[in-house]
Amino acid sequence: MDIMERIPTHVEGLDENMQGGIPKGHICIVAGASGAMKSSVTFSMLYNAVLYGETSGIYVTLEQGKDSLRAHMSNMGMNVDDPRVRNRIAIIDLSDLRVQLDEQGMSNRVDWMGQLIKQLTNYRKSIGFELLVFDSLGAFFTLTKMENPRDEIFRLFEAVRRLELTSFFICEMTGENHRQFGEYGVEDYLSDGVIHLVMDRKEDDVQRKLGIIKMRHTRHALGYKPFNWKQEEQRFTVL
Ligand SMILES: Nc1ncnc2c1ncn2[C@@H]1O[C@H](COP(=O)(O)OP(=O)(O)OP(=O)(O)O)[C@@H](O)[C@H]1O
Ligand SMILES: [Mg+2]
Repeated sequence: MDIMERIPTHVEGLDENMQGGIPKGHICIVAGASGAMKSSVTFSMLYNAVLYGETSGIYVTLEQGKDSLRAHMSNMGMNVDDPRVRNRIAIIDLSDLRVQLDEQGMSNRVDWMGQLIKQLTNYRKSIGFELLVFDSLGAFFTLTKMENPRDEIFRLFEAVRRLELTSFFICEMTGENHRQFGEYGVEDYLSDGVIHLVMDRKEDDVQRKLGIIKMRHTRHALGYKPFNWKQEEQRFTVL
């Protein structure tokens, strides 16, 4: 018997092979190379979760500005102006953090992780959101020039656990044969789930594939399956 409450990903073909979804409260890594559709996949999960469920979420963007993110999702066919989406997904744009920091001349003196955790805690109390997307961990550490990312990741994950959020942390994977799911070598151990998006190249053809590397408390299919976006249905499908 499955006693876990689960959050469906709304990715067709994925939930069916994952006992219905991601256990509530899990911290998941969504890892992949540039352009692997990390932002699109996670945003679509949030988007469909608020359209088909009672939940709400926060999308923290550091990589890409809020307008660019909204334009991309709109181009994908998602209705970002739907009142339910507007009211239930807060996009928090931290992409100009570096500029703010430099203007104040205090980039090195602020406890940015502490500030971030405080913000998330406030939002949790005031708007009661349940889902969190953090896009991306790497961008946050680059912007804030944190000295000990490993300890800071630990601190962030602990805080997110205490807040009982179900979360997705986007991690870039660089280089051809990168086998590590996060940049700092601890993200995958500290998380409950790892979703890996790859662009599989055979000569001139490239196929997008998705693999669940781990998902605690879940019986899930292994292996990489091709996936694509169904524009009319506004969801991804794993073949
Ligand atoms: N309407 C569309 N339908 C399907 N795919 C699209 C559409 N519009 C853009 N794309 C694809 O989406 C890709 C970008 O997706 P996304 O921004 O989610 O990737 P990412 O992994 O977050 O990239 P980055 O590393 O830049 O953050 C584009 O490179 C393009 O191939
Ligand atoms: Mg992205």
